[in-house]
Amino acid sequence: MTIKAVVFDAYGTLYDVQSVADVAEQCFPGHGDVITQIWRLKQLEYTWLRSLMERYEDFTTVTRESLVFTLRSLGLAQEPAVVARLMERYLRLDPYPDAGSTLAALGRYQRAILSNGSPAMLKALVKATGLNQLLDATISVDARKVFKPSPLAYTLIEQVLGTPPAEVLFVSSNPFDVCGAKSFGLNVAWIERVPAAALVQDLAQRDRIAPRTLFNILRAQPEELGFAPDYRVSALADLPAIVAG
Ligand code: 2OP
Repeated sequence: MTIKAVVFDAYGTLYDVQSVADVAEQCFPGHGDVITQIWRLKQLEYTWLRSLMERYEDFTTVTRESLVFTLRSLGLAQEPAVVARLMERYLRLDPYPDAGSTLAALGRYQRAILSNGSPAMLKALVKATGLNQLLDATISVDARKVFKPSPLAYTLIEQVLGTPPAEVLFVSSNPFDVCGAKSFGLNVAWIERVPAAALVQDLAQRDRIAPRTLFNILRAQPEELGFAPDYRVSALADLPAIVAG
């Protein structure tokens, strides 16, 4: 495998979407976890629904609408100032601890993000976290007006970087994105953030399934869609060795 470009998903892969939980808990004490999980579950669901409905709105709108759904469904007030405060956290999510060092170690390859994020969200995020210095391109699906896992979204990699799918390693922690990228024809590495054994252990220790555990079942386990990744790794830091072959 000759890899020329390493392209990363953003939310959940380079950046921890769970990091909104602190502000969610401050805004709604006792509800931080459930808000965080429903918000992300619904955010992704809305990307798929809008793509199927052919009613694209950008990820800023999707993120706001899914947050309003979450607060309304939980019986919580949707005051504009609170919604704005939670939305603002999305512009400065915590990068995973090995994100910067991994991008730096991959300096001899093209390095990019391909994300559902809107151009404005992604620009703010990479700038706030300094990852803009380590990326050759930050590509938003907005240019195609459809969300991943539509094949059209993945065509943007070759269009922007000029690198064909066979020479790209696409990296995602999101199992649906892994399937979409593999179905499209990219080489794919899956960041397995919640190993199945850890999940089973978590379930065995509880009487009830916590919101985070439910999220880990629904959004962190391999999909039954027939497309397995080429590589399974536990952290971004494992990637330089894989790319070097
Ligand atoms: C991203 O596109 C799928 O949310 C994920 O960054």
